[in-house]
Amino acid sequence: MIVLMDATPEVRIAEHPEALADIAAHEVLEVALAAVAARGRFTVALAGGSTPRATYARLAQPPLATRMPWPHTLVFFGDERGVPSDHADSNYRMAHETLLMRVPIPPDHVFRIPGESADPEAVAADYARTLAEVLGVRRGEVPRLDLVLLGLGVDGHTASLFPGSPVLKETFRTVAAVHAAAASIPQRFTLTYPILNAAACVIYLVAGAEKAKVVKAALGDRMRGVPAAMVQPTDGRVLWMLDRAAASLLPSTIKRTS
Ligand code: 6PG
Repeated sequence: MIVLMDATPEVRIAEHPEALADIAAHEVLEVALAAVAARGRFTVALAGGSTPRATYARLAQPPLATRMPWPHTLVFFGDERGVPSDHADSNYRMAHETLLMRVPIPPDHVFRIPGESADPEAVAADYARTLAEVLGVRRGEVPRLDLVLLGLGVDGHTASLFPGSPVLKETFRTVAAVHAAAASIPQRFTLTYPILNAAACVIYLVAGAEKAKVVKAALGDRMRGVPAAMVQPTDGRVLWMLDRAAASLLPSTIKRTS
């Protein structure tokens, strides 16, 4: 077993999924306000899957919805499935329906990954170019997002970085088209480790007893074989926001912040 020795992740544990959504939404607000105060804008990559829904719903309601700096917010996606935006499994659709259509964010501040496209490699290259242009970095430089929200699959995948996938070895491209044979929708698009580890802040949102074993592997044992364990911002924070069920197998040595 190879154990990682990087920066100590912050861990916050909420009693249940609703309380997790509350503290997560407040954390997003804090990061957003700090980013706008420091740089005049807030750049965020949203997570897909089901766990973030409740957090997005909190951000779409007062008081948080009125405190978020929506006019200065730029929204990207950490990954997407190879489906159109109106498909039930579209991460964009989930975020749009639970958050983006409910808040005053300028439509041209939302950058969807066109999962339906017939040319996945072109989609990945275009999205990487969009990230670089909008975040204003020179060619070859890695854009720095203020915040990346991530989930965790029971197999240890995060975004669409699946165990054993060649994309785990990517060291240059910031976006990749991925074929995830084990996934319900194998065609995927994902941000890669270079851009995830260049972020100022990464927040994991994880809930449910079925995730306890992989949370222990990723966060407790920090096993290299678990893709989520490899997200370690070189100059940034990684904050694991868990509910009590998902944290139930974590060793007591894991420092928790209230
Ligand atoms: C996706 C996600 C993926 C997700 C995990 C957890 O597109 O599927 O980005 O990485 O975060 O699969 O999903 P749940 O939150 O639904 O458990």
